Amino acid sequence: MTDANVITQHYTLGNLINVIRDGVEQLGKSIDEVTIDDLAPVDEFHIGGRIATEAFLDQLGITSEHHVLDVGCGLGGSSRFAAQRYGCRVTGVDLTPEYVETGNVLCKWVGLDKLIRLQVEDATALPHPAGSFDRVYMMHVGMNVADKASLVSELYRVVRPGGKVGIYDIMQISEGDLAFPVPWATEPGGSSVSPPGVYRSALESAGFNIIAERNRREFAIEFFAQLQARVSGAGGLPQLGLHILMGDSAPVKVKNMIENVSLNLVAPVELIVEKNA
Ligand SMILES: C[S@@+](CC[C@H](N)C(=O)[O-])C[C@H]1O[C@@H](n2cnc3c(N)ncnc32)[C@H](O)[C@@H]1O
Repeated sequence: MTDANVITQHYTLGNLINVIRDGVEQLGKSIDEVTIDDLAPVDEFHIGGRIATEAFLDQLGITSEHHVLDVGCGLGGSSRFAAQRYGCRVTGVDLTPEYVETGNVLCKWVGLDKLIRLQVEDATALPHPAGSFDRVYMMHVGMNVADKASLVSELYRVVRPGGKVGIYDIMQISEGDLAFPVPWATEPGGSSVSPPGVYRSALESAGFNIIAERNRREFAIEFFAQLQARVSGAGGLPQLGLHILMGDSAPVKVKNMIENVSLNLVAPVELIVEKNA
C-alpha cells in the first residue's frame, strides 16, 4: 500500500533549491549560465539518467506541435529535455510540492518556462479533460502507485485518440524480497513494484495497443558500473548528482538498487502503447 503522504514525505528534502544552487556555483556557473545538460545528473531521477530519457522519448514521435504530459515529473528534467529537443509544450505533474516548486525555478534558470508548466497533481486523478495531450509519458513512477488500473485508465483518458503513451518503470522480474531502502521507498510499505504482465493487462484493459516492450536490465547494469567507475575515478561524489535527492541514505539505496537488479528481482522496462485513432 502507498499513500500520498508517505510518498511526498519520502521525496521531500526541504532545501532542495538551495542545494542545487550551491552545486551550480561549485560548477563555476551562475544560474543564468546553467544548461539542461549541467542539471541532468541531479534532475533525471531514474536509471540511466539522460541517456535513458533520450532513448525512451525518441520512440514517442514527439514534434513541436505536440502538447506532452510528463506524469510524476519530479524536478522536470525530462520535461526540459523534451521541450528543448522537440520544441514541444510540456505539462509536468507530480505529487511532491517541493519537486514541482524547484522544477519550475529550474525551468526559469534555463529559459524554458514559456514551454513548460509543472503542477502538483495526483496521477491517479488528473484534473485535465479527456484527450488533452498528444503524448503522455511516465518515468519511474509506477513503483509508487498501487492501483495500476486507475493510473493507466487516467493515462488513457487524457491522451488524444491516435496518441502515444510511454512508460519506463522499475518492474518485478522474478519472485523474491527486495532489499530496502531503495530510491523510491524506505520500506516495503511504500513500494508497489509490479511485473510487466500487470502493466500489460492494465494497458490492454484500458484500450491501448502495445507497440513495444524493452527490458533495460543490461543497460542498467552497465550504467551502474560506469557510475561507480566515475565516482571512484573522481575521488568522490560530483557537485550535482542523485545523491542529493536520496539524502543521507543514498549509498545504501544505490547499493540495494544494484543488488536488486543484479539478482534479476527487478529491472527497468519500457512499454510504448497507442490509443486507437
Ligand atoms: C523516482 S521519482 C521520478 C521523477 C521523474 N519522473 C524522473 O524520472 O526524474 C518518482 C516521482 O513520482 C512521483 N509520484 C509518485 N506517485 C505519484 C502520483 N500518484 N502522482 C503523481 N506523482 C507521483 C513522486 O513524487 C516522485 O517525484
